[in-house]
Amino acid sequence: MMIVVILLFFISTASSEEVGTVCNSCIKVNTTCYNVTYLFDIEAPFRNRIVINKLGILRSTNTLYFSFEPRIEDQEYNKVGFINLDNPVNISVISGEKQIMNFGTFDLDQDNGLVYLGGSDGIYVLDTKVNRVAPYSSRGDLIVSLFYKSHVYFIRYGEFKIIKKKGDNFDIIFEMMQVKNFVSNKYDVSVLLCGYGLFASKKDEMVWLSKNSYFRGLTIDLDNTIYAWWIDGIYKVIIEPKLADSRIVRVAHIPSIGALTFDNDNNFLFTVEKSLFRLIEMANTTIC
Ligand SMILES: *[C@@H]1O[C@H](CO)[C@@H](O)[C@H](O)[C@H]1NC(C)=O
Ligand SMILES: *[C@@H]1O[C@H](CO)[C@@H](O)[C@H](O)[C@H]1NC(C)=O
Ligand SMILES: *[C@@H]1O[C@H](CO)[C@@H](O)[C@H](O)[C@H]1NC(C)=O
Repeated sequence: MMIVVILLFFISTASSEEVGTVCNSCIKVNTTCYNVTYLFDIEAPFRNRIVINKLGILRSTNTLYFSFEPRIEDQEYNKVGFINLDNPVNISVISGEKQIMNFGTFDLDQDNGLVYLGGSDGIYVLDTKVNRVAPYSSRGDLIVSLFYKSHVYFIRYGEFKIIKKKGDNFDIIFEMMQVKNFVSNKYDVSVLLCGYGLFASKKDEMVWLSKNSYFRGLTIDLDNTIYAWWIDGIYKVIIEPKLADSRIVRVAHIPSIGALTFDNDNNFLFTVEKSLFRLIEMANTTIC
């Protein structure tokens, strides 16, 4: 009986529609076919094993910022570099010059063209308009995660709290677990990576999304959707009106993805080793 149904279905779709184009360089994200388009290799003083942890784009100038691990002889073990996506010829590397900085995390204040940098000597800020780096906060502290949304939010090594810098004051906004990484969308839903896994939280409510505590990163697309990635692909966090119904779903299988962000047209942009790729949505007749 089952066989008959499938055959009938196949015959009817084949006769009523054109057969789709097969794309060998495409992958599926959920149900949609995307072409994996190679853009360029990021040239930086990388270590032998290339690690790019984080990507972010300054929207106004289309500049890609990335944190990476430099050569082993470099005293710093994390740096942030940047390159213009419209003309990717020269990369610049932000570094401590005379001082060891280890900028391993950063986030962007899009409105003011500022890049906040977190490392082994607190938080610094790069003013991209004048291309100058200056100390910002928490000198001497090791910053493990930094997030910008109207204010700078950060996590110091070993602490069980997320701190929000509000002018000269520091508000503690989360004090339950040791958080390794977090993002917060415009509806104030936060997604937090802890030793127990991944959680979504809003006000006093909290939901356990995954026991995997090794997601490599978290990012938010231009439509306010939160994504995570791990060695086996891209995961979408589905936030439901009833927070407890929220969940995480793997939407794309990409082996050895390094870091993920979204370009100015909200296309997926990701690295594998030093190569940068964009996912371009294909017509829905394309077969992956
Ligand atoms: C996958 O696509 C289906 C059909 O378009 C949609 O209903 C569903 O919400 C999508 N799932 C995710 C995780 O985006
Ligand atoms: C996919 O992208 C590549 C460039 O990376 C291009 O050469 C190829 O034609 C594209 N494939 C389709 C089916 O559009
Ligand atoms: C790239 O760097 C080279 C050498 O430093 C310089 O001559 C050139 O003007 C730079 N190009 C851009 C687009 O910045």
